Amino acid sequence: MDGLHSTITLNNGVKMPRFGLGVWKTDNHTSRDSVATAIQNGYLGIDTARQYGNEQGTGAGIKLGLEQSGLKRSDLFVTTKLYNGEQGNYDQVSRAFENQLKDLGLDYVDLYLMHWPVDKTYLESYHAMERLYHEGKIRAIGVSNFDNDRMRKLLDEAEIIPAVNQMEFNPTNQEHGILEFDRSHKIEMTAWSPLGGGASLTDPVIEALAKKYGRSTAQIILRWEWQRNIITVVKSTHGKRIIQNSQIFDFSLSAEDVQQIDKLDQGKRALWYDDFQWHNSKGAFANSIDQWSDTKKY
Ligand code: A2P
Repeated sequence: MDGLHSTITLNNGVKMPRFGLGVWKTDNHTSRDSVATAIQNGYLGIDTARQYGNEQGTGAGIKLGLEQSGLKRSDLFVTTKLYNGEQGNYDQVSRAFENQLKDLGLDYVDLYLMHWPVDKTYLESYHAMERLYHEGKIRAIGVSNFDNDRMRKLLDEAEIIPAVNQMEFNPTNQEHGILEFDRSHKIEMTAWSPLGGGASLTDPVIEALAKKYGRSTAQIILRWEWQRNIITVVKSTHGKRIIQNSQIFDFSLSAEDVQQIDKLDQGKRALWYDDFQWHNSKGAFANSIDQWSDTKKY
């Protein structure tokens, strides 16, 4: 079934919405408003992370959205991620997770992802996540930004196959090798930066398709991802765009037009490991929590 309620069944049987809202680079106040607007307009998937510094605002948005829509917590699917600087042994990861739950104002999350594979700690951290999963406050665990070498190493060690690998995926970065490998292990790919951080919105091929179908360029890209069976979390802080991005279920791209977008792949990632091989708040992006959060409490 096409639509915001459409789900994919993860490898542990849990159903995940195929389309959701992301809140990267969004402060607490804006996250609250975006999340509430999304829920009011039918979004069921919400994706945040410790590193975004906005779990309090996201949690407030969930609360508000549920009040306004009359939905129940169990209607939603909330994803958050383990912060690089909080990876480590069970005690460290468990403490981090409990703080995240507290900030989100939730008593469980649907999906807990390891945000980046910090080489020194990702195996130990994943085992801690497996234990947390067994304790029952997480419905599915997974990873993000794992290439095939690191995924192979993880699969050799893991008791639980990750349900999801969240990767940058958009017209210019289609990750064929990772997608094929992950799918062969029943690991679903979720796209972050599905619009290429906004850059793909002005691609001439996408613009021509937007004209042909009478849709916005964002809708063409998101519909392409939908037809490629990639779970998508798209960020916007504008109510009109949040609504527009979800209106992709009343048209479909022809097979030839899907292929036209397939051909835009340049294997061009916006961010990769070099930026994220750090632990304990060292290195690039270490201060992103301060950058994107604000001090107001929710
Ligand atoms: P904004 O939050 O101001 O709407 P990605 O998800 O690939 O990282 O891209 C997100 C970027 O695309 C954000 O900067 C967001 O800006 C912008 N964006 C999201 N939806 C739309 C839309 N429908 N039209 C134009 N820009 C959009």
